[in-house]
Amino acid sequence: MDRIRIVGGNALSGRIPISGAKNAALPLMIASLMTDDTLTLENVPHLADVEQLIRILGNHGVDYSVNGRREKQNGSYSRTIHFTARQIVDTTAPYELVSKMRASFWVIGPLLARMGEAKVSLPGGCAIGTRPVDLFIDGLQALGVSIDIENGYVIAKAPKGLIGARYVFPKVSVGATHVLMMAAALARGQTVLENAAREPEIVNLADCLNAMGARIRGAGTPTITIDGVDRLSGARVAVIPDRIETGTYAMAVAMTGGDVLLEGARPDLLENALDVLRQTGAEITPTNAGIRVKRNGAGISPVDVTTEPFPGFPTDLQAQFMGLMTMSKGKSRITETIFENRFMHVQELARLGAHITLAGQTAIVEGVSKLKGAPVMATDLRASVSLVIAGLAAEGETTVNRVYHLDRGFERLEEKLSGCGATIERITG
Ligand code: EPZ
Repeated sequence: MDRIRIVGGNALSGRIPISGAKNAALPLMIASLMTDDTLTLENVPHLADVEQLIRILGNHGVDYSVNGRREKQNGSYSRTIHFTARQIVDTTAPYELVSKMRASFWVIGPLLARMGEAKVSLPGGCAIGTRPVDLFIDGLQALGVSIDIENGYVIAKAPKGLIGARYVFPKVSVGATHVLMMAAALARGQTVLENAAREPEIVNLADCLNAMGARIRGAGTPTITIDGVDRLSGARVAVIPDRIETGTYAMAVAMTGGDVLLEGARPDLLENALDVLRQTGAEITPTNAGIRVKRNGAGISPVDVTTEPFPGFPTDLQAQFMGLMTMSKGKSRITETIFENRFMHVQELARLGAHITLAGQTAIVEGVSKLKGAPVMATDLRASVSLVIAGLAAEGETTVNRVYHLDRGFERLEEKLSGCGATIERITG
C-alpha cells in the first residue's frame, strides 16, 4: 500500500494549480443519466472517486470518452470528458458499488426521472458517521414516488412520472438537494424546494441542468424553484474549481509560512474560511489569477470555528483547520455540527505532539510550539490531508499511511506540494 513520506519544516512558496471540484464533478457526471444526448464536462479532476463513478455509471449504460478518445492510463489533469447515456441498460445500483462510494446513491434521482423506477442499495455506514437517507426518501415521496425498502435496497417507483410539489427540507442536505433538483427537472409541473443546500456545487449542477434545458431558479439560495420539462438535451459545462482543495493548501501555507498563489481558485467559493484564515494571521489576497496566501514571521493566532452548511465554515475543512490550530499561540475551540463522528484525526494529530481534548462535538486545541514527525494514518479523505498539513510543519519525518484516501480527493498532491518546496514523496508498495 502506498505511503506519503514528508520531511517537515520547509516554508511553501510558488504556485499551486487548483483542480476541478470533486464534489461538483460527481453530481454533474450523474446528471448525464438524464439525457440520451452527450453531456460534456470540462475541468474534470483526475481522482479515484471520479474513476469509480465512471465505472458505476457504466453499469447503468453511460458511455464515456476523454477528450474525444477512450481514457488512457495516466491521463493529464483537467480533462474534458464526454458522457453519453444513449440507453439506460440497468436501473439497479448494487450494494458492491454504492457501498464504496456514497454519492453513487444519487443516481436514484435521474433514474426515476428518466425511467420511472430505480433500485438502489442503501449506502451503509461510513467513517464519518451514520449518514442516513431519510431526506431523500421523504423528498422523493413528496414528488409522488412510491418507496419500499427491501433487503437493503430502496425500491423506488413512479410509473406515471414524477409530480411537482413543495418540499421543505427538515435539515440542510447537499446530496438530497442534488437529487430532488434532478428528479424535479423532469417532473410534471412546478417543484419548490425550501431550506435547500446553498453550496456552490448545487449552483454548478443547476447551471448544468439549465444548460441541458431544465428550468431551475434560485439555486444558491434556500428556495429553489423548478418548472419540470419533458426532456433534457446534451450540453457542455465546466466543473468549478475545488474550494476544499483551495482551503486545504491555504491552510498548509498558513501553517508552514511562505507565499503561494493558488491558481484558478475562486475566493467567492470560500469567503468564510478565508476570513478565518485572515484572523489566524495569514495574508489572503484575491488576484486575477487566483488567491495569494502569505504568512511571514508572526505566529498563528487561535480562532474558534463551528462548521455549518454553506456559506458557513465547511465541515470538509474542519480537520485541516484543526491541523493548523495545533500550532497556534493559544487555545481554540472547533465545533463540528454536520457529522457526528468527524474527529478521527484527533488521535493521529496527537501522535505528532498536538494537544487536543474532545468535549462532545467540540475539540479544544491547545497550541504547541512544535510538532514532531511520526507515522500516522487516517480513515477518511479530509482527515488524511490534515495529517499531511501537520507533517509539513512538523520537525523531522512523517509517514502518512493509507494514501488511497488522499487519492480519492486530491489530484497530484505530492507533486503540487513538492513544486512549492515541500519535501514530500510517495512511496509505492
Ligand atoms: C456532501 O455529502 C459532500 N459529499 C461531503 O463531502 C460534505 O462533507 C457534505 O456534503 C457536507 O457539506 C459530496 O458532495 C460528494 P449532506 P452529503 O447530505 O451530501 C444528514 C468529502 O470529504 N443527512 O449535506 O452526503 C447527514 O448525515 C465529503 O468530500 C440526513 O440526516 O452530505 C449529515 O449529518 C465527505 N439524512 C447532514 O445531513 C439524509 O437523508 C449533511 O449531510 C441526508 C443527510
